[in-house]
Amino acid sequence: MRPFDKSFLTPTCPAQREVGNILKVTQLSKSFTGLSVFKNLNLEVPNGVFCALIGPSGCGKSTFFDVLMGVLPMDSGEISWGGRSVNDLKHIAAYMQQKDLLLPWFSLEENALLPAKILKGQKKDGRKAVRDLFARFGLSGFENYLPHQVSGGMRQRAALVRTLTFDRELVLLDEPLSALDALTRSILQEELLNLQLEFGKTVLMITHDVEEALLLADDVVILSSSPMRLLERIHITSAKPRRPSDPEIGRYKEIVLSELKRELTVAQ
Ligand SMILES: Nc1ncnc2c1ncn2[C@@H]1O[C@H](COP(=O)(O)OP(=O)(O)OP(=O)(O)O)[C@@H](O)[C@H]1O
Ligand SMILES: [Mg+2]
Repeated sequence: MRPFDKSFLTPTCPAQREVGNILKVTQLSKSFTGLSVFKNLNLEVPNGVFCALIGPSGCGKSTFFDVLMGVLPMDSGEISWGGRSVNDLKHIAAYMQQKDLLLPWFSLEENALLPAKILKGQKKDGRKAVRDLFARFGLSGFENYLPHQVSGGMRQRAALVRTLTFDRELVLLDEPLSALDALTRSILQEELLNLQLEFGKTVLMITHDVEEALLLADDVVILSSSPMRLLERIHITSAKPRRPSDPEIGRYKEIVLSELKRELTVAQ
């Protein structure tokens, strides 16, 4: 395997991006019945940055998001948003969990409207926003279907609409496009990118798809096997929108894949 060419990398988080609300995770630890999932994890994501997290299956990515969102309690550590320490990001971030978690007795549209209903004072007209996103995500005509009446990929898209309907600056997405066919996936990648570029949201996205990470993210964070550590953070300088055929994307892909392969070899 070729050595990892770090000279290709540029420093992460240049000073000019350090404005607005920064997400800061400091010394975060979580274990299950004595087994450490991650220990003293640090991560900083500047305002408006799209950060992709890639790591081996079972390394602790979903647990990390669950701890950030307060779904699971942390053992120790600190989370801060905009310089203010918070217990978790429950009231700050929109979260799409790995399982779609749609309510089975509500239609897709009613499911997607839940954030607008729950969040009193949400400025935007929920139904219009949901209808717009349904159209953009290829779900028009399926508004009144129940979750069990549509495919897994359609449920995943409806869950993504529900997450994006939360009017929140920070968005956490756990493998949001994993159940989709290649073409739908590529269309939705563009939509995710548009939403980030249009609305300037800070996005943390877990994915197993290296190309997806490189097409969408400003920073790609590579994680180790359990207990999960940050192995590398790669700042992707290529202008957006990007194409898989861009030579630069190809070079980044080699770097990320070689780092992941190295980690899997070490872990075996
Ligand atoms: N509630 C729980 N109780 C005990 N162990 C758990 C619990 N949830 C997760 N784990 C363990 O924590 C580890 C990390 O799981 P997690 O789901 O965070 O991995 P992941 O990186 O998201 O994997 P994948 O890429 O397959 O989704 C695994 O070993 C898993 O078995
Ligand atoms: Mg997971």
